[in-house]
Amino acid sequence: MNTFLEIARSRYSSRKYKSTPIEREKLELLLEAARIAPSAANRQPIVLYVITEEKLRNEICTTYHREWLKDAPVIMVGCVNKTEAWVRSDGKNHGDIDLAIAIDHITLQAAELGLATCWICNFDVRKCSTILGLSENIEPAVILPVAYPDDEDKKISHLNNRKNLEGIAIWK
Ligand SMILES: Cc1cc2nc3c(=O)[nH]c(=O)nc-3n(C[C@H](O)[C@H](O)[C@H](O)COP(=O)(O)O)c2cc1C
Repeated sequence: MNTFLEIARSRYSSRKYKSTPIEREKLELLLEAARIAPSAANRQPIVLYVITEEKLRNEICTTYHREWLKDAPVIMVGCVNKTEAWVRSDGKNHGDIDLAIAIDHITLQAAELGLATCWICNFDVRKCSTILGLSENIEPAVILPVAYPDDEDKKISHLNNRKNLEGIAIWK
């Protein structure tokens, strides 16, 4: 069995995909990983679109400028329900944090299953909302392609470009 760190190290941003369909059971495991994620005040203010239908996938691809997204057989769109999310007394809405945890669970579960993912936040949010017919309080925050990878050579090298521990941790 793989340790947690082995799975975490094997996750990378894959940007080259096989067109092989993803088994429904595997997609359900990804969603289960998201479902059990923690969230502020347990509000669970997330909505996950799982888009397999080709026409809708192609529409979502128009919100992002990279061609490789089109090859993914599944595109998830992670949304935050801003009115459901917990808001701290200083006004900070925690929905983005909650969604990030859920998406991270998905990427790690995907890595364990040998599936590729890539966080995409640099997309046209307004256009994506229109395509999905979202109400004002539901904000799409991340597009996540899910596929079998066609660039597994990147699996190790992506970790070369990380700060060392001294660069991120302060011990007192
Ligand atoms: C919040 C977030 C937003 C990101 N947005 C994009 C994006 O729009 N396009 C893209 O190609 N990669 C995007 N990435 C992927 C990062 O570039 C990538 O995680 C980083 O370079 C580290 O590489 P690795 O994921 O392979 O370890 C995003 C990652 C995160 C966490």
